Amino acid sequence: MHHLPQDFVWGVATAAYQIEGAVDVDGRSPSIWDTFGRVPGAIANGDTGDVACDHYHRWPEDLGLIRELGVDAYRFSVAWPRVIPTGTGAVNAKGLAFYDRLVDELLAAGIRPFVTLYHWDLPQVLQDKGGWPARHTAEAFADYAAVVAGALGDRVTDWTTVNEPLCVAWIGHLEGTMAPGLRDLHRAIDASHHVLLGHGLATQAIRAAASARADVGIVLNPSPADAATDRPEDAAAAVRADGHTNRWWLDPLYGRGYPRDMVETYGYEPPVLDGDLETIATPTDYLGVNYYFRAVVADDPSGPAPYAKQVEVSGRHTAMGWEVNPGGLARILTRIAADYAPERIFVTEQGSAWPDVVEPDGSIADKDRIDYLEQHLEAINAAVDAGVPLAGYFVWSLLDNLEWAYGYDKRFGLVHVDYATQQRTMKASGRRYAEIVREHRAARG
Ligand code: FCB
Repeated sequence: MHHLPQDFVWGVATAAYQIEGAVDVDGRSPSIWDTFGRVPGAIANGDTGDVACDHYHRWPEDLGLIRELGVDAYRFSVAWPRVIPTGTGAVNAKGLAFYDRLVDELLAAGIRPFVTLYHWDLPQVLQDKGGWPARHTAEAFADYAAVVAGALGDRVTDWTTVNEPLCVAWIGHLEGTMAPGLRDLHRAIDASHHVLLGHGLATQAIRAAASARADVGIVLNPSPADAATDRPEDAAAAVRADGHTNRWWLDPLYGRGYPRDMVETYGYEPPVLDGDLETIATPTDYLGVNYYFRAVVADDPSGPAPYAKQVEVSGRHTAMGWEVNPGGLARILTRIAADYAPERIFVTEQGSAWPDVVEPDGSIADKDRIDYLEQHLEAINAAVDAGVPLAGYFVWSLLDNLEWAYGYDKRFGLVHVDYATQQRTMKASGRRYAEIVREHRAARG
């Protein structure tokens, strides 16, 4: 890891709904994921986030695990329905107190909190009023951001507005396999615009409300889009997939507005009002990149927008069925640095699910996850060598957790969770990550 900058930040990441449980404790109201989890077949095995890793009660033990890993930073998300159960208006002091304590204890342990404000758990009450397709959700989000930054912004310096707007808009409103489970292109485009608008408004709100230095960014999940063959139709499909996955988000965030080719592909204009594009392009302090796989696509004229379908490729795949392609991480990072020039980039999520085996002695020798980690760290070294301003790397995830619609079967943790007993066990990959972090720290002196 000798190529990485001295002050490179090593971290682990989680998200509220995936780990906290305690969905009706201390005044939390239901989120769209609580609702979605009750739709038969929406989440594998009928799993829900009701208990998850019970992190809401077991957080001191989880903090101990973060310390054991020896990382510099912990990226977690705040649950909007805990802090403002009615979506807008009254603040729930008990909900806020949970995160306030967590931040204090992280800082006392020398661990830098990276706080994400929206990792998909919209209060159901706001969904009932139209959700992200409705403009007022963006405004409500900025108000909520101001509340959290007002409470924690004397100590927290690293903020993320939204995690993966692509999943919110496209998977939640177009593909329908994530909450709120809609399949409507126009509503999805409306949602995409209001999530980006909410990001811009929240960026300004955080900076106004925080009393300490506030570095604010958004987390995207871009990926290279390759054509499955050299047929011109597939090449054109790859351009559309790139537009749908990458440019639809990056272009407006970096001041270029929505890509015209995609507006034409969708046949629908996003609901932009005067000043929105300026708000969305509010300068940020960093870009967060989550990377899991690349897209390899073929033309699909009769399929859903963007009329490009993912094709099977040979090679290694994780338990998610995702191709292991570390080169794609280096490619997307160098491309973003070249085309959009963010001041800094954090890889805010990176990790893999495998069919982990618990040995009779309780240990988990997850060699696949270690190989995956090492290969992707080589890719980030290559990106740094190519001049990408990479400031840190967060493993997804600290713990095995609720992998959204895939349920608890898909395990991404550096730490194994036995859901029957809530027992945590550090996997071999967790020990290897701790060693990598120690080695880099020793080398930087
Ligand atoms: C990302 C999500 C994260 C996790 C990983 C596997 O899309 O941000 O919550 O589920 O995928």
